[in-house]
Amino acid sequence: MVNRHCRPVPKPGSRCKHEDASEGTTAHSKLFTEADLALGDIDPAVVEKGRITYDVKCQACHTLTDKRVVGPGWQGITTKRKPEWIMNMIVHTDAMLETDAEAQKMLEECLVRMPNQNLSHDEARQVLEFMRTL
Ligand code: HEC
Repeated sequence: MVNRHCRPVPKPGSRCKHEDASEGTTAHSKLFTEADLALGDIDPAVVEKGRITYDVKCQACHTLTDKRVVGPGWQGITTKRKPEWIMNMIVHTDAMLETDAEAQKMLEECLVRMPNQNLSHDEARQVLEFMRTL
């Protein structure tokens, strides 16, 4: 992949916020495994919550098409990535960028490190449900 679609981060609003969070960095928490995630029917109410979180915290860097802006577009992401991988990328961003080969490959392509957006597990799960509709 060429990186001509990559652009500098427009405004890294919540960068490094996790350093102040009372529970500390999430980098050392346990990663999600397949057993943690049972995907059921898609619930429109949950999808809507995920969409709102996307609008507020993700859309500066991710489109809903296959177009890369700062990060990759999300169209079809749940057909390319396992649900637990997506959850880990959202909640344990730093651990993934430090240890996961696929995450590191993306980082090399765009040279921008995704900042941890401090989503709760519930919020991350809502975004995952939203992604299933893309
Ligand atoms: C400041 C820009 C930025 C923001 C804001 C951002 N991301 Fe990212 N995201 C990236 C970049 C860049 C990558 C590629 C990995 C890297 O370089 O760190 C990425 C990768 C991802 C991936 C993997 C994509 C793939 O194709 O495998 C997921 C999932 C993801 N982000 C979810 C989110 C969610 C959910 C939010 C909002 C809560 C969010 N991101 C907010 C920049 C951002």
